[in-house]
Parts: sequence; C-alpha cells; structure tokens
Amino acid sequence: MQATIIDGKEISNHIRAGLEQKVSKLTAEGIQPGLAVILVGNNQASRTYVTSKQKSCKAIGMHSELIELPEDVEEHVLLNEIEKLNNRDNIHGILVQLPLPAHISETKVIETISPNKDVDGFHPVNIGKMMTGQDTFLPCTPFGVLEMLKYMDIPIAGKHAVIVGRSNIVGKPAGQLLLNENATVTYCHSKTADLASVTKTADILVAAVGRAKMLNADYVKEGAVVIDVGMNRDENGRLCGDVDYNDVVDKAGYITPVPGGVGPMTITMLLYNTVKSAQKVLANRK
Ligand code: GUN
Repeated sequence: MQATIIDGKEISNHIRAGLEQKVSKLTAEGIQPGLAVILVGNNQASRTYVTSKQKSCKAIGMHSELIELPEDVEEHVLLNEIEKLNNRDNIHGILVQLPLPAHISETKVIETISPNKDVDGFHPVNIGKMMTGQDTFLPCTPFGVLEMLKYMDIPIAGKHAVIVGRSNIVGKPAGQLLLNENATVTYCHSKTADLASVTKTADILVAAVGRAKMLNADYVKEGAVVIDVGMNRDENGRLCGDVDYNDVVDKAGYITPVPGGVGPMTITMLLYNTVKSAQKVLANRK
C-alpha cells in the first residue's frame, strides 16, 4: 500500500494563513512583528535560506531586516550587533544564520541573543525550558515536525519514536519534543550498532543525518510514519532527503517528501515564534 504523503506546503499554508491574521491584529495595536536576520560571510546556501526567510516574513505582513557582515568580521562586532537588536523595540526575533566562520564562537553568539528574542530556540535557557516542558520558543525544524504529526492526527503517546541523528538543532530537540508528547524515544547516531535493527522497531522514524537516501525500505517497519528532515543532493544534483523515498513509499504508512515536506515547516515555525514573541510584548503592555 502506498503511504499517505504528508504535504508540508499545505500544512505551512494553513498555519501561515492563521499567522497573517495575528500579524494584522498586532500591527493594528502598534506592534508589527519584526524579525532581524544576521548573515555572516557569503555562504550561498545560507544566503538562499535567509532570502527565503525574509520573503516569507513580508508575505504575511511582518517587518524583516537583514544585517550582513563580512566573513572576517571580528566576534565583538557581531556580538555588539546582537546587543543592539536585543534593545530594539521593533525587533521581536533575532536569528543568526549558522554555520558561522570558524573564528567566531557559536556558543557565545547564541548566548548573547536575549532568550526573549531567541526565535530559533537555541539559547540554553530556552533549551532548558523545552526539556522541562515549560512554555518557550521551540527550535523551528523539530517544532515543524511535531506540528505535521498533529495536523495529520498521528498519535504520538505510547509510540516508539526513533531519531536518527543527534544534532543540537534537529535530532536532540526532535527526540525531546516527542518525549514531551509521551512517545518512547530512541536516539541513533553514527556509532549505533546495527542501525536497521533499531529503526525497524520505529512507529515514528525521524531521519536527520544529512546523507542522501541513506535509509531504504530495509530500515523501515511496515506502516511506519517516516519523517525526512534531510536536505541533500543526489547523484543527479536533485534535492533529496535522508530517506530513499521511492523505496520506502510503498512500505511506510505516512511519509514526508523532499522537497515539500519538513522544509517549508521550518520557516513557518520561525514566523510562528516571532509572532508569539510580539504577542508577549503586547500582553505585557496591557
Ligand atoms: N542553519 C541551518 N538551519 C538553521 C536554523 O534553523 N537556524 C539558524 N540560525 N541557522 C541555521
């Protein structure tokens, strides 16, 4: 049987339509949600992502600013730019596009962003809140994964979720968010012995490794929910995920395509977090 395709674009559009209304209400109250993005250097992939983030902001009526700094910018200059944004009333979200050049400490940069404007959800304060189940900004990609499961009415509680990949941005928080929803969570990574024997027990399989088509049908249980966070190029230069889609699509119960799956959700949840930040400002004013 062919898997049900989880359409990230459709879900994104649904969420963005709701956000557009919230932006319009906030703007009428004098608080137009604003996102500042800092881009260091000239990494082409980063530039593409950043352009897309800005376009998406504007499309729903948000304010968006891009601060571009040269590849050789000194760390203190970048930290100073962040401090200025921390203190600006018309900026509700700050995002420093990663990766950064090697001479800049990612940790220092993330810790300089005010937790109240950390719409990436990368600040240790916000990670701590996520781990303890408190209200906070959730990291955009795992948050997007969770929203997709919820939109599709896929049950999570009591299910075995297997996460392949343990990055701070995707793998680790994805497992935590599913644990918060009462899944039983297993993390796999490059040192996991007999990976397929573990992934084959997954009711929900999240692939976030960054290797083109690494997980084929041998890694998937019949009827499993397969969420592909990968964004790679295949041997023909075409975009593809970490999952071998054509091989898995007849075995899985649900599957996210690449492109058009998790990808659009990441920016949507960034918009969501920025609107949420602006809503908090309004609530505190009243
Ligand atoms: N680089 C790749 N993904 C991300 C992300 O979600 N946030 C930031 N800031 N940089 C990234």
